[in-house]
Amino acid sequence: MSALKTLFLLDPDLVFLNHGSFGACPLPVFETYQVWQRELERQPVAFLGRQATALLANAREQLAAYLGAEADEVVYFPNPTTAINMVARSVRLRPNDEILTTDHEYGAMDRTWRFICQQTGARYVRQPIPLPITDAEACVEAFWNGVTAWTKVIFISHITSPTALTFPVETICRRARAAGLLCIVDGAHAPGQLPLHLPTIGADLYTGACHKWLCAPKGAAFLYARHEVQHWLEPLVVSWGYESDQPSGSPFIDYHQWQGTRDLAAFLAVPAAIEFQAQHDWDAVRLQCHRLACATRQRLNALTGLEAICPESPQWFTQMFAARLPAHTDLEALKQRLYDECRI
Ligand SMILES: Cc1ncc(COP(=O)(O)O)c(C=O)c1O
Repeated sequence: MSALKTLFLLDPDLVFLNHGSFGACPLPVFETYQVWQRELERQPVAFLGRQATALLANAREQLAAYLGAEADEVVYFPNPTTAINMVARSVRLRPNDEILTTDHEYGAMDRTWRFICQQTGARYVRQPIPLPITDAEACVEAFWNGVTAWTKVIFISHITSPTALTFPVETICRRARAAGLLCIVDGAHAPGQLPLHLPTIGADLYTGACHKWLCAPKGAAFLYARHEVQHWLEPLVVSWGYESDQPSGSPFIDYHQWQGTRDLAAFLAVPAAIEFQAQHDWDAVRLQCHRLACATRQRLNALTGLEAICPESPQWFTQMFAARLPAHTDLEALKQRLYDECRI
């Protein structure tokens, strides 16, 4: 892995452990990104006016194949936040309808749903999933206890942000679909960390970031939507794809792909990121990262004397993990010391 390190642009004096917020982009992928940016600058009219649609279609096909999906089920978004905002604004919610979620979700997503609830009178129900988690079935049951006659939408992370847990989303989606509930999965952390076959997971809608663990440039993410749910998704930004003069045959792609003038280079570099990981035996890299995470977790838990939040298994975490800290830890001071003394 030390040979791989030289392929990244990260400051060598820094111990960068925050791929969960912003993944590092390796040099060959970053160069591809810049090639597309230069191509745009060289001839903006030809690039954005004529070539972009075909280039995006190609980049989308490659991403869809990587996700086990069809090309017209996947559209690029700059980030999962934007994708979930589009979905949340499109769902027809009525007063008292409930969106069932967990108490492990990412803050910006919680805020998005609360905003929508304020406008519609729906309720955002954060079902507690107690720690430690030891058993997938118990986890599903704890979540499912939150389902009521008012539940309309299930919103759940594939890998959680505050606790870094891989939730059993396949089982939850299966149950949601059987119960006639719309199932939306926030997979921001999954691409690159977990092998993904989206039809098998079975979510109606699934968003993922490419700029975290897949190592694509910042501003590359996607939304997957099963064909059956595409028709009610409304464009967050209405542009030329609405009432399109040149319809592609998929209103889903037309509505969401074109959002006015913007830099498409990060999307176009996603196939290079997929290729980079394939060329560098990412299964082995992932396994090595998991082993490092396990060893570090053991040391941290031994240091604090506190209980692990889940068993040591790739079932529950892959390349990132969360550990408990003693009560009343000054988090800002800890963060500062880690940076000042260890450059973490
Ligand atoms: C679980 C989860 N969902 C969504 C997001 C949002 O990602 P972005 O800021 O790229 O939109 C994050 C970001 O860290 C996340 O951890």
